[in-house]
Amino acid sequence: MKRAHKRVLVTGGAGFLGSHLCERLLARGDDVLCLDNFFTGSRDNVLPMIGHPRFEVMRHDVTVPLFVEVDEIYNLACPASPVHYQNNPVQTIKTAVHGAINMLGLAKRLNAKILQASTSEVYGDPTVHPQTEDYRGNVNPIGPRSCYDEGKRCAETLFFDYQRQNKVNIRVARIFNTYGPRMHPNDGRVISNFIAQALRGEPITLFGDGQQTRSFCYVDDLVEGFLRLMDSDASVTGPVNLGNPAEFTIAELARLVVEMTGSASRLVYRPLPQDDPKQRRPDISLARETLHWAPTIELREGLTRTIDYFDALLRRGAPLPQLAAQ
Ligand SMILES: NC(=O)c1ccc[n+]([C@@H]2O[C@H](COP(=O)([O-])OP(=O)(O)OC[C@H]3O[C@@H](n4cnc5c(N)ncnc54)[C@H](O)[C@@H]3O)[C@@H](O)[C@H]2O)c1
Repeated sequence: MKRAHKRVLVTGGAGFLGSHLCERLLARGDDVLCLDNFFTGSRDNVLPMIGHPRFEVMRHDVTVPLFVEVDEIYNLACPASPVHYQNNPVQTIKTAVHGAINMLGLAKRLNAKILQASTSEVYGDPTVHPQTEDYRGNVNPIGPRSCYDEGKRCAETLFFDYQRQNKVNIRVARIFNTYGPRMHPNDGRVISNFIAQALRGEPITLFGDGQQTRSFCYVDDLVEGFLRLMDSDASVTGPVNLGNPAEFTIAELARLVVEMTGSASRLVYRPLPQDDPKQRRPDISLARETLHWAPTIELREGLTRTIDYFDALLRRGAPLPQLAAQ
């Protein structure tokens, strides 16, 4: 059966994940309205889509109510890396909370489906591994990461309250570390930091002893998960973990990046930032069962594409990551 043509709003559409999502939606025939305040997103990310007859960009801040006509909303607007979300913590929590209220209000008025880009940060520094969706988290409400973690937790609460109170058709995805081309060059995240340092032949900075683990999901896999969650039966509200369960230590990642870039960089160690989780790995059983989804792109393959992207940026003389928390 042919899919019905949809009008889709992507908030944060000029960001890393948002721009890849807009591309996929356009490719499958949807009308895409990309909304962004360009805090961390950029025109470069959406440049290849500008001029497409079914693509529109709108400069708007999600903390301000919005009146447009759409069938589906992907709510991605929010700075996502510590250097960005700690830059203006009050604005971060406003974006997470007021943004959720405004987009849920819009979904309610339009009877539209709405998907929230939540995060594994709702689990805080977890005490159980891997994390399943029913784990309630170990979150510091007053630390430097709280504006993001608690903002996202409150947004999830709002999603479920709008569902219970107003019957809004909601989906909540808890995203684990995702990487790929168009990651922000100054976001201080571990993959972009390591690649940039390796390409420049600078020392690779590891925080702590490098034995903390992370799992890394390639962006195309994540976007596929978003689409499956949005298209799933209304009973599948989530929260659903989306991420890659393959686990690597930060030191293993550093060595892999050095090898793949052919860099002469050495590894240097710095103190661990406050509230930095020691281990984070998704249990994706729920996504496997309900969405028939699992990541397909291995770290080496995803890193190759990401290294190519950063290499091209470097050759163009674009700004590259500065040192920051992972
Ligand atoms: N990338 C990941 O690994 C990851 C992990 C967990 C959750 N997420 C979530 O996914 C979403 C997208 O993350 P990303 O990695 O693409 O980050 P990103 O910073 O590249 O994208 C966020 C986008 O939101 C925009 N934005 C920020 N505040 C806004 C506001 N008030 N109004 C309108 N637009 C605003 C930014 O300009 C940017 O384009 C975020 O909600 C983030 O919390 C991402």
